Amino acid sequence: MRGYYQIPSGDLQELLLDSGSYLHLFHHERGRVEASAARLSEVQAEIERTGTYWQTDDELAYGAQVAWRNSTRCIGRLHWQSLTVRDMRHLSTAEEIFDALIEHIQVATNGGKIRSTITVFAPAAPGQPGIRIWNPQLIRYAGYRQPDGSIVGDPLHVELTEALRRLGWQGGAGTPFDVLPLVIQLPNQLPRLFELPQEVVLEVPLSHPDYPWFTKLGLKWHALPVISNMRLEIGGICYTAAPFNGWYMGTEIGARNLGDVARYNLLPVVAEHLGLDIRSERTLWKDRALVELNVAVLSSFAKHGVTIVDHHTASRQFLRHEELEKQAGRTVPAHWVWIVPPLSGSATPVFHKTHYKNTILKPNFFYQQAPWRDLPQRQLRWLG
Ligand code: ARG
Repeated sequence: MRGYYQIPSGDLQELLLDSGSYLHLFHHERGRVEASAARLSEVQAEIERTGTYWQTDDELAYGAQVAWRNSTRCIGRLHWQSLTVRDMRHLSTAEEIFDALIEHIQVATNGGKIRSTITVFAPAAPGQPGIRIWNPQLIRYAGYRQPDGSIVGDPLHVELTEALRRLGWQGGAGTPFDVLPLVIQLPNQLPRLFELPQEVVLEVPLSHPDYPWFTKLGLKWHALPVISNMRLEIGGICYTAAPFNGWYMGTEIGARNLGDVARYNLLPVVAEHLGLDIRSERTLWKDRALVELNVAVLSSFAKHGVTIVDHHTASRQFLRHEELEKQAGRTVPAHWVWIVPPLSGSATPVFHKTHYKNTILKPNFFYQQAPWRDLPQRQLRWLG
């Protein structure tokens, strides 16, 4: 029968358990233990009747904040309680969702004074696929594979760029920094393409305080990192489209996005301009280029009034977060490999804390399969 899906009883059991433990956490941490039992039985009845339940605004908002708090790869968690949660669960068309994404970018960018924001769309119905945004982030640069095998733009996004072409995207201007269109896919519908209006995408042109030649490299980066392909899970409910952003830490751009060999690979270019000998690794040309690239990123963002944090400050803030969490009677699960900045690791205090446990608590954000890889399987499930 079309659209009909019998929920396996194991899934129901799991939902009952997951909702129960989240409602406990929610009422306990918010000092409303006395309200817990009533809400719990209400939710259980709703699950037994409908196979799912609808979270209150507060349950959703607090769950999203705790999901951030539980993100073991994030060094910026001191600010978890300042996350603004936009409840967009009522939207039902791709157009409405696109408008809400534009609004997210505007509200979060805030003229450069970045506000940590999450927009939550309707959860996946039990046994059904959920709403998906194909793009890993709302603002990302295309990667165009050239006939000779080289890549113009961001090599990380070659596969997405090609998937978008197959959906009918004509391609952008062909610069190294073409902003990709968004793809929104509703459950059991075809994916839809939407072009982002240029004026909502704030970008920072990169210059260096000491090297005038740096400007001529023509580098820039977008102000806002909005992760849009992860699943937010709260109390057993899966929000498959719940894009969220913080502000950048400088090394994400200066060390990884622009420096990685498999990304923009700019260390040799910067080193040559610095007049360094790149034939011998022992001159530490990579290290020196990395530092100057990162100086350029931090100072350019500051110059343009765009929020950014350096890795020393972020590390210190993370230790502060641990302190506050300890006072609240909690420990901070963390993935050391991700927490230690990719530049000057040992000069930051987090490097020296080797006891972190990478425990995955819920609510949390989880990776999901890229939808374009998932497509045939999904169709099968639908037809079956
Ligand atoms: N590392 C990713 C990027 O360079 C962004 C990840 C999220 N970062 C953040 N500061 N909230 O685009």
